Amino acid sequence: MIQPHESDPQSVAPAVANLDTIVSLSKRRGFIFPSSEIYGGINAVWDYGPLGVELKNNVKRAWWRSMVQLRDDVVGLDAGILMHPQVWVTSGHVGSFSDPLVECATCHRRFRLDELPGAEELSATDLRDETVVERLGLRCPIDGGPLSPPRRFNLMFQTWMGPVQDEASIVYLRPETAQGSYVNFKNVQQSSRKKIPFGIAQIGKSFRNEISPGNFVFRMREFEQMEMQYFVRPGEAAVAAFDEWLPSRRAWYEAYGVTPARLRLREHAPDELAHYAKRAIDVEYRFPFGWKELEGVHNRGDFDLSRHSEASGEVLDYFDPATEERFIPWIVETAAGADRAAFTFLIDSYREEEVRGETRVSLALHPELAPYKVAVLPLLKKRPEIVELCHRIKADLKRDMMAVYDDTAAIGKLYRRQDEIGTPWCITVDVDSLEDGAVTVRDRDSMTQERIPVEGVKQAIVDRLAAARP
Ligand code: GAP
Repeated sequence: MIQPHESDPQSVAPAVANLDTIVSLSKRRGFIFPSSEIYGGINAVWDYGPLGVELKNNVKRAWWRSMVQLRDDVVGLDAGILMHPQVWVTSGHVGSFSDPLVECATCHRRFRLDELPGAEELSATDLRDETVVERLGLRCPIDGGPLSPPRRFNLMFQTWMGPVQDEASIVYLRPETAQGSYVNFKNVQQSSRKKIPFGIAQIGKSFRNEISPGNFVFRMREFEQMEMQYFVRPGEAAVAAFDEWLPSRRAWYEAYGVTPARLRLREHAPDELAHYAKRAIDVEYRFPFGWKELEGVHNRGDFDLSRHSEASGEVLDYFDPATEERFIPWIVETAAGADRAAFTFLIDSYREEEVRGETRVSLALHPELAPYKVAVLPLLKKRPEIVELCHRIKADLKRDMMAVYDDTAAIGKLYRRQDEIGTPWCITVDVDSLEDGAVTVRDRDSMTQERIPVEGVKQAIVDRLAAARP
């Protein structure tokens, strides 16, 4: 049994003490912007800028590579965001996908009960207790006003499908990708002829009308998930699969550079378990605002396939030709957030150091996650032959990776700019390059420089990228 708190929350410092550092870097350099900013923004929705979209795409690609491409037992799926509304009744989301909400009688602001100061450690039983606010003397954190007893607030967004807006046309924006994999279990299993155990992986948008979103992209109302549902024989096989997936998911973050000491596992207490879960352990990260969930690994038993079988009349079972048994598979789920993962890689890679009396800011991003793999820089932009050679090298690199040319400052400043956005390598073309046909390759983290012949420079970068790949 994993201890609820594997390490002392105070013993591991966050990578960045103040979240504002990352928020302002993200805005300034084009990673993440507030949505609809010119209209004052919309709460809990964020837009990914030119560098952010590269980072997030690279995170999703890295996840897909590890979960689908490198495995023989996991296949992909891309189900719709809108699904038959009965899916969400059957899954339990219409009935119980809710958070405890309290309202201040004075300012009428609403809060998630478990995020109020003094209520963070409440058990799930307490969170459902109508007397808890009075019992603990909880007050509004803004104006100290009295708070209402908690009521359950359903997190699903709803809209109408078709031209008539009535009860019968209500559909929901999915709050998780998982249900798309469950209702497609037979389609996927029969078309791919996969034998159990096998998994279905999905990456896609999910929506939750969170009561108290915040901490930048940590909790949003529109976000992206990377979920994998692993179908196994009932009972012991699910326990074994859970025990295999949990460490491998934690190791994935470490393989892409997250500091191991800032990761820990936290087991859900029995009264904290989601309605579908037999067992759940979160991979948590030490964010600047505390230890928080990065990803959940869940043993969902046969809850999902049994419920959908009963409600739809389509029996979602599996026939094992080896044992001639028919059974409803159990599911082990790994449920991660693409935004939360990208945010974690961004924070954890942030470095500040003194170099020759100046502060050097860099993102020590894993090369595979970095938005640009390489920048090509001229030492003298006034020499057309140097600029022309830069463009030739960059054009060649661009066929295989994200590469960029920049000549808008002196070389020292150009290096700093690339450091700050996490570009692992810079190629500099100087006057000597025109004579000796070699260029300088500078490494972001060590700042060491190496002279490499122009003809071999692309291969050198390709080799470095391949060597870094987990
Ligand atoms: N299918 C199970 C499921 O959805 P979850 O723990 O509710 O489980 C999985 O969500 C992951 O999705 C979380 O660990 C987190 O990374 C991400 N996630 C959930 N809600 C989020 C939100 N409001 N904003 C950003 N990411 C979120």
